[in-house]
Amino acid sequence: MNDVLRTMAAHRTVRAYLPDPVPDEHLRAAVEAARCAPTSSWIQAYSLLNVTDPGERGRLAELTGGQPQVAQAGAFLVVCGDARRHRLVAERLGQPFVANLETFLLAVSDATLFAQNLVLAFESMGYGTCCIGGLRNRLPEVDALLAIPADVFPLFGLCVGRPDPAVETATRPRLPVDAILMRGRYLDDAEMLAQIDAFDAEAAAHYAERGLEGRTWTGGLWRKFTRPMRPGLHDYYTAKGARLE
Ligand SMILES: Cc1cc2nc3c(=O)[nH]c(=O)nc-3n(C[C@H](O)[C@H](O)[C@H](O)COP(=O)(O)O)c2cc1C
Repeated sequence: MNDVLRTMAAHRTVRAYLPDPVPDEHLRAAVEAARCAPTSSWIQAYSLLNVTDPGERGRLAELTGGQPQVAQAGAFLVVCGDARRHRLVAERLGQPFVANLETFLLAVSDATLFAQNLVLAFESMGYGTCCIGGLRNRLPEVDALLAIPADVFPLFGLCVGRPDPAVETATRPRLPVDAILMRGRYLDDAEMLAQIDAFDAEAAAHYAERGLEGRTWTGGLWRKFTRPMRPGLHDYYTAKGARLE
């Protein structure tokens, strides 16, 4: 174990924060480190919007599904995949900018690697974070509120703040290494299901310790995947300039 591995292993999502704002120098230091993440072909297809207006933060708390931490955290950041720079450069050169599924995936993967580096940077500085996928619940309204330009794709939010010590947050277990790291070939389905059952027992124990008897990991999964999630995303992202074919 080294300090980086210890910081990673201690990760837990924090949803209750002290009211202290995140000083600008801390925000800049985290972004300075996070931007060193690998990036496809050095294209750096992401940007980060720091939402500073309290009224906008309050509205975003509603738009993300009633998540109070969006308004209460020391900072609320919007992680965006970003092809706008590339389009501007192409246009200045008088060249077409040809978007397709690959250019969208480049932006999503670049932004996600950057965002995880950002989470790690903040956690190493003693902050807690909470990713907010609820940002995609009502994206057209988020878009209008924040005046997001074309070719910029808001992906998820990130709350950052000093964890409230009065609210306990535990680390959540993860699938074991052998369920993830496969040697040479993908696991067969029987082995995969055995790994899942073993993990379910661990997850059930984790829930039971918190008074949630009878809850399992797979129980939560099937509830999530039995109906289409956020069906308007195709229309929203294509309206912003993404091409998904
Ligand atoms: C892209 C993404 C979106 C998420 N969206 C939300 C969210 O909207 N609200 C929330 O409370 N947690 C959200 N989470 C946090 C997850 O629920 C959390 O990471 C997961 O349950 C594992 O818990 P842990 O981070 O404490 O280990 C999100 C996480 C990710 C990676």
